[in-house]
Amino acid sequence: MSKTLHLENIEKAQRAIEMARPLINNAKMRQRYHFMAEEGWMNDPNGLIFFNNQYHFFYQYNPYDTCWGAMHWGHAVSYDMIHWEYLPIALAPSEHYDNHEKGGCFSGSSIEHDGKLYLLYTGTTNYGDGFVQTQCLAYSEDGIHFDKYDKNPIITAPNGYDQANFRDPKIWKHGDYFYLVCGAQKDNLAKALLYRSLNLKDWEFINVLAESRGEFGYMWECPDFFQIGDKHVLMFSPMGLYERKTVYLVGDMDYKTGKFNYSTIGEIDWGFDYYAPQSFLDNKGRRIIVGWANAWDWMPWWKDWGPTFKENWCGSFGIPREVKLLEDNTLMFIPVEEFQQLRYDENKVENIEVKYKKYEIHAGDGVAYELKIEIDLGKTTAESFQLLLRCSDVKETVITFDLKKSELTFNRNNSDDWSTGISRSTLKLNNKNILDIHIFSDQSSIEVFTDNYQNNHSGNIFAGNNQNKNYIVAKNGTVAIRKLYSWGMKTVMK
Ligand code: FRU
Repeated sequence: MSKTLHLENIEKAQRAIEMARPLINNAKMRQRYHFMAEEGWMNDPNGLIFFNNQYHFFYQYNPYDTCWGAMHWGHAVSYDMIHWEYLPIALAPSEHYDNHEKGGCFSGSSIEHDGKLYLLYTGTTNYGDGFVQTQCLAYSEDGIHFDKYDKNPIITAPNGYDQANFRDPKIWKHGDYFYLVCGAQKDNLAKALLYRSLNLKDWEFINVLAESRGEFGYMWECPDFFQIGDKHVLMFSPMGLYERKTVYLVGDMDYKTGKFNYSTIGEIDWGFDYYAPQSFLDNKGRRIIVGWANAWDWMPWWKDWGPTFKENWCGSFGIPREVKLLEDNTLMFIPVEEFQQLRYDENKVENIEVKYKKYEIHAGDGVAYELKIEIDLGKTTAESFQLLLRCSDVKETVITFDLKKSELTFNRNNSDDWSTGISRSTLKLNNKNILDIHIFSDQSSIEVFTDNYQNNHSGNIFAGNNQNKNYIVAKNGTVAIRKLYSWGMKTVMK
């Protein structure tokens, strides 16, 4: 009975996608190489996994509208995280615990067990007395068609915890047990709750893995926990921390007690459009994270979700990034090497000095490109230098490396007719001779990686193809460029 409604709702959603598909044919702001849904609204990456020889990306999806609404899980597969094939929707709201127009199948994760693919997700509903979030299970033999477990929900909020803030299970296996961490709230403070199970169906609460005493906000969305080297990492997207919204902690895990002791705190991305990253381990042993490239209405800089709703879509993912642990227990987030396949029109310039006059950077068609720069700080006398990206005569996005203040800013106040705001972070200049910069520009976004991929900014901009000039300019002195390599980036998404 209920299984039938799930299937019916998937088929209904597929028909909506078919109807909407032609509407994006003339869309001008669609990304060229960043992952997007076929149409409609998408947010968080869900259930990321390498399964049956392919990368599976699921995503929070509303196929019926260009804004957030009853959540489905969209689904796509790829051999290289670049070329994607969309599959039928994996999960649609259909049961009492997940069938609500302001609820649905919220974020979660996946795991392979005995050849089957299991999804763990949060069912969000409202029986008339506030939202209720519970953890639920679905499974598939073929990795395409999913059945919801008939004894869902498998986990409900513990006593004393807010039922409306209990979501986003992330699963992994350790020894004989499956473990799951999930975001929760008690007394208005964020907690990450740890559970374990032998069979994926019956779960036992172990401990509060880690928590906020106020310094980390009131709710952690999309917690993620993994081992890297001999350390463990807890990532989460905190609510209530102003400009911080993708935090990572590095420390040690004690599986006997279920406690995580951390000693390092870092930020994954300081940009305005990077949220809810999820990690997975691929067949090459890489720990990869993927984030949603947009922002929520509760974030301080939020204005709206951008103008792409006029083109019948909204939302994309940031470029997948490989996580690496350094000796000082901080993390690097490096765009996966697969994207080098998309390069064309290589341009290499070495050992030049730029003063007050803008130096024009040749980079593909000036819209979709990759840029790698090394600045020789020893020979640089300028107080600051700027990258002026996606410029026309009157518009520009300004990335400023202020060497005097030791600050990086990503200014989109004059990027286009929509964007506003300046995201900022501290540059790590101490004892550094070479400043490394790596940029990915796509139709509607710019990602900046610097300081050894530890200081990153993702920002959406909505500039037309006439905004295709890119420059570097120095303020009060000379900037010594050791290397300036650029490539155009081919189009693979439509
Ligand atoms: C994070 C989030 C999750 C939730 C989902 C709903 O962006 O708010 O906590 O599960 O989005 O779409």
